[in-house]
Amino acid sequence: MARIVVLTGAGISAESGIRTFRAVDGLWEDHRIEDVATPEGYAADPALVHAFYDERRRAVAAAEPNAAHLALAGLEARRPGDVLIVTQNIDDLHERAGSTRVSHIHGELGSALCEACGERMPWHGDLAGGPRCPSCGARALRPDVVWFGEAVYGLDDIFDAVALCEQFWVIGTSGAVTPAASLVAVAAEAGARTALLNLDAHDDLRLFDDVVLGPATVTVPEWVARF
Ligand code: OAD
Repeated sequence: MARIVVLTGAGISAESGIRTFRAVDGLWEDHRIEDVATPEGYAADPALVHAFYDERRRAVAAAEPNAAHLALAGLEARRPGDVLIVTQNIDDLHERAGSTRVSHIHGELGSALCEACGERMPWHGDLAGGPRCPSCGARALRPDVVWFGEAVYGLDDIFDAVALCEQFWVIGTSGAVTPAASLVAVAAEAGARTALLNLDAHDDLRLFDDVVLGPATVTVPEWVARF
């Protein structure tokens, strides 16, 4: 059981140079979301989708964790066993900062999924060109990321953890995507203390006990120093 559950989104990695999704133009890295983040987009143009995620994987490898990732890792180091990070991010910046309990509900760039045998495996190279699955040999590897309309990973365990935690913090996420957005309701209902640390306020702030607005590299180190 983790006393502190932290839900993170694209905003925590923004200051590491990784762009968020809902920019004003509605595009993700100059592509329409439906082209690069849906099963239909992948079926229509797998080469484009592979090129897109291969590029994201390289960009993440070149990025560094920032002060917000490092502060959460420091909190875990001070309070072993107390901190669980649930992230919507497909980068590995929490792990590279030193966090050890990280649940990637939207999958990871550093993982591939074989559509033939169902195996998920660590993957750090490109997927363009159709490399063979090391398990079954099929050329059926796709990015192990959760696209719109697909099931989020590990959600039952996360709902259980959130229902038992004492602190639930939401950092750098727009709160627009369910089911992640519904976790704060579970936490509040269960009596946890809730906090939002984000650049902008969400439309509905009623379920948050504390709201701290500002860039994550400033707000998160200050916030975790209190615990
Ligand atoms: P969004 O891009 O929707 O939202 C990012 C949030 O971070 C916004 O509320 C920004 O105000 C905030 N933000 C930006 N820069 C920040 C900074 N420096 N410090 C603090 N906050 C900052 O990203 P997510 O909420 O992560 O799903 O998006 C959730 C999911 O929607 C993603 O995982 C992805 C996407 O479609 C799938 O791919 C399935």
